[in-house]
Amino acid sequence: MNKFIVRSIISFENFLKKPIFRYSRVSTHFRDLFSYRDTEKSLKLGMSFLNVNRIKGDYAEFGVYDGGSFIPAYHFSKLLKLDSMKFYAFDSFEGLPEPSFVDKEFNWTRGEFGCSLNKFKSILRKSNVNEEPNRSKLRGIK
Ligand SMILES: C[S@@+](CC[C@H](N)C(=O)[O-])C[C@H]1O[C@@H](n2cnc3c(N)ncnc32)[C@H](O)[C@@H]1O
Repeated sequence: MNKFIVRSIISFENFLKKPIFRYSRVSTHFRDLFSYRDTEKSLKLGMSFLNVNRIKGDYAEFGVYDGGSFIPAYHFSKLLKLDSMKFYAFDSFEGLPEPSFVDKEFNWTRGEFGCSLNKFKSILRKSNVNEEPNRSKLRGIK
C-alpha cells in the first residue's frame, strides 16, 4: 500500500514537471512566484510584452542545446496567443567548439552542451512542441 502511495506521488510530481502542465494556464501564475527559472520568467515577460503591445514577429534562437529556452518560449507564445509566431532553432548540434580568446578563461571544453539534431527533435516531441502548418514552424539548421 505504501509503495502504491509513493509511486502515485512520484508520477503526480512527474506530471507537474511536464511542459504540458508546467506552461499551462492553471500552473503559470503559481510558477511565476515559486518555481520558474529566471530564463522562463524573462521569456514569459517578453511574450507578454509582445501580446499586450500587439507586436508580431518570429522567434529565432542561436545555440538551442536541449531546448531549455526554446521549449518554454514556444509554450509561452501559445499561452499568450502569439499564434502567428514561427520558431527557428539554430545550432551546430555538436556542442561548443574549441574555446578560444576570452572563452579560454572558463572551464568549457570542446563538445560540451552537445545535443544531436535527432535528440533535439525527440526532446521537442516529448515536450509537446509540434510543427503546426500555418501556425508555428520549427527549423533546425546545422
Ligand atoms: C550553452 S548552450 C545554449 C543553451 C540554450 N540557449 C538554453 O538557453 O538552454 C550553447 C549551444 O550553442 C551551440 N554552439 C556553440 N558555438 C556554436 C557555433 N560556433 N556554431 C553553432 N552552434 C554553436 C552549442 O552546440 C550549444 O548547443
